[in-house]
Amino acid sequence: MTGATRRDGYPVRVTVNGAARTVEVSSTETLLDALRWNLDLTGSKECCAEGECGACTVLVDGRAVNSCLVLAVESDGLDITTVEGLETGGPAGGRLSRLQDAFLEKGAVQCGFCIPGMVMAAQALLNENPHPRPDEVREGLAGNLCRCAGYQRIVDAVLLAAEEDA
Ligand code: FES
Ligand code: FES
Repeated sequence: MTGATRRDGYPVRVTVNGAARTVEVSSTETLLDALRWNLDLTGSKECCAEGECGACTVLVDGRAVNSCLVLAVESDGLDITTVEGLETGGPAGGRLSRLQDAFLEKGAVQCGFCIPGMVMAAQALLNENPHPRPDEVREGLAGNLCRCAGYQRIVDAVLLAAEEDA
């Protein structure tokens, strides 16, 4: 090895849940890791880490993205929403969004591990299609796996949120 210095700390500027943030990340760190470990936003979960389960889903410019598949250094300038950003009223005394409430009302949560990703995928769907049919909800959530197999209640929750938004 010559005297070359290895550089592995890159500043990345992002907007997360409406706030401008700058984080220093390594060249191999994922957006999911940066959110969880650098920004303390642990709502997004890591499960498969290879784009198969959807547990890490966040919104990038309003669209669902598997954050485990995005390098943090590629995130510079992006507008990111995590599940924490759906709440209203701030961290202390924040209120769940209508969509999150609908998951509770329909009993769509079992162990809960998949739910942040499900909610974000559902939010992305509702952003594009505020009044989806049941088959459109299933298609919209097709990239999100639930090991507790509570799919019907999850679909019902998304339909309820859409109905109440009518
Ligand atoms: S943890 Fe990202 S898709 Fe499974
Ligand atoms: S509620 Fe347990 S994995 Fe979905």
